[in-house]
Amino acid sequence: MRHAAISGWGMAVPERILSNSDLERMVETSDEWIVSRTGIKERRVVGPGDSTTSLAVAAARQALDRAGLAADQIDLIVVATCTPDQFLVSQACLVQAELGGNAGAFDLGAACSGFVYALSTASQFVQTGCHERVLVIGVDTLTRFVDYTDRTTCILFGDGAGAVVLEATDEPRGLLSTVLGADGAGAKHLYIPGWGAYVPESAALLAEPRPHLQMNGQEVFRFAVRVMGEAAGAAVERAGLTFADIDMLIPHQANARIIDAAARTLDLPRDKVWMNLDRYGNTSAASIPIALHEAEAAGRLREGDNLVLVAFGGGLSWAAGVVRWGTAGVCRDPECRGRGGAATG
Ligand code: ACO
Repeated sequence: MRHAAISGWGMAVPERILSNSDLERMVETSDEWIVSRTGIKERRVVGPGDSTTSLAVAAARQALDRAGLAADQIDLIVVATCTPDQFLVSQACLVQAELGGNAGAFDLGAACSGFVYALSTASQFVQTGCHERVLVIGVDTLTRFVDYTDRTTCILFGDGAGAVVLEATDEPRGLLSTVLGADGAGAKHLYIPGWGAYVPESAALLAEPRPHLQMNGQEVFRFAVRVMGEAAGAAVERAGLTFADIDMLIPHQANARIIDAAARTLDLPRDKVWMNLDRYGNTSAASIPIALHEAEAAGRLREGDNLVLVAFGGGLSWAAGVVRWGTAGVCRDPECRGRGGAATG
């Protein structure tokens, strides 16, 4: 059976740091409140020179370098984002224009669950034999839609991008199981209004230069605690494993209390749970690939390790999967790493 190993990974965040003390000067809040309720100390925020494209391209270049591949060896680019730079064309085509090559390119929208949805989709192109090498990017610049007078949301979000390269292997590597779910009835709890083809009738909304993210924090919190545990548990079971076999939980980085609750449900000790939200906040679709990149850089991921990725987000949506880390069986010979999507381009 073919599998889709993760053979390259990368991340990018903007240079500008927005700390809790910066926020104390903008809204009525405190470092103590933010840290105790969320675990976040600072986040990265896009500046004038940054864009969803620039972050995605920087992360993608690192992932390609790590895999030892050029852009024209990639067959397909899948970008998970809910904050594309424009709606026509796709974010994936904007990324490809910078990287080069003629890979197929499309976007996938599942908010903060987007990277795991995209990993699952992309893995299937490789597992079925349709493609050999796929670039998967999770990127968001949600701070462009944050209301910096609303203390209940502006403390949470940061910007960033993470990317992985998937390559075919006969060894059991990459995604071993997938759980995807959504509850559209919960869409009203987390959304950005009026940023699409539908023209809302509210004159006030139309007058806004840019709509702001709306969130019912308590509702999302309850939902997240429930689905993180359930989805992660189902993914482990579908992989034919138990939590004793799991080396690391890499959860969506939204709130330390949500992650702690999920870890307790799954009976995982804290040292098996990767958390970096203190430095980045919630980077939406980027949070899991950024966490993967940092866990590897810290020497915490070894060949053959079993990782659980689990996310929740707008939709409401959720996604989980077991990933077996490593590149066993991936062909490094230039002969079998020919040109990518250009063959039919
Ligand atoms: N500073 C100080 N006080 C605050 C702040 C703040 N930044 N924000 C809210 N408060 C106040 C509230 O006004 C309230 O005051 P009151 O009791 O006088 O009315 C009090 O703190 C408690 O508010 P709660 O909303 O009950 O606070 P809670 O403990 O639920 O924490 C939070 C709020 C952090 C938003 C939490 O609900 C949460 O993390 N929810 C999940 C959000 C999330 O993960 N969203 C991203 C989803 S992923 C995606 O797709 C984008």
